[in-house]
Amino acid sequence: MVTYDFSGQTAIVTGGTRGIGGAISAALLAAGAHVTATFAGNTERAQAFAASHADTERLDLRQFDVGDYDQVEAFYTEFDAAHESLEILVNNAGIRRDGVVGLMPEADWQAVLQTNLSGTYNMSKMGIMKMMQNRYGRIISITSPSGKMGFEGQANYAASKAGQVAFTKTLSKEVAKRRITVNCVSPGFIDTDFIGELPPEQLKAYKSSVPMKRFGTPDEVAQVVLFLASEAAAYVTGSTLEVTGGL
Ligand code: NAI
Repeated sequence: MVTYDFSGQTAIVTGGTRGIGGAISAALLAAGAHVTATFAGNTERAQAFAASHADTERLDLRQFDVGDYDQVEAFYTEFDAAHESLEILVNNAGIRRDGVVGLMPEADWQAVLQTNLSGTYNMSKMGIMKMMQNRYGRIISITSPSGKMGFEGQANYAASKAGQVAFTKTLSKEVAKRRITVNCVSPGFIDTDFIGELPPEQLKAYKSSVPMKRFGTPDEVAQVVLFLASEAAAYVTGSTLEVTGGL
């Protein structure tokens, strides 16, 4: 396993207390970073995550909705007062509300776009200002193959995930001269709550569609995020790295 050293660096991981985000927070903590892990609603899981890292003082938890501009602004006001710099922002928070377009409630369309895409904009907009002051930064957003391939019943999710890629490409060009890189990681089927709720026959079909014939682990995604967050990835920007078992 490659080891990284993020000592002295500050990171924000949205949705950072469980699933893929939990693995990213844990890997950044293990590599020495100060991590602010955010979450939306599942307080029990957040507390369990905090309890499993009770041995470090480098973990903060914050609860707010990334899709709500005012809440994000309030978070950054507090964050800015407590931290001199922000080196790493991981836009991981995401939801899905599946349904075919003809039957998709407008609220499900809006909720997914609001969290996944507007959440990425809200967090990046305010984070990038802090990174520009220090002329250094890494923004990594967790997109999905759904945005490229289009899975039935996921028009809202796919649109939000494709939007993250377009947002990333654009922002990467805007800040490239300031030693700030902006990339996406696109995980395939990863074993988390996110896919755990799918019907067994759908899970079976998904697994057999993966050339490696297995789902990935949250840590396998975290390792790629850490690479992009490191100095080793200094010349990688505007890219999407796929972690899909060949999907
Ligand atoms: P999860 O459901 O286990 O975790 C999602 C996290 O996002 C939770 O911590 C939750 O608190 C947070 N969150 C949700 N809505 C929020 C909001 N409005 N404000 C703040 N935080 C919010 O899901 P998982 O699997 O760990 O997914 C993480 C990311 O990876 C998501 O963006 C998802 O779209 C993406 N992804 C997941 C795949 C998978 O197979 N599990 C595949 C491809 C992408």
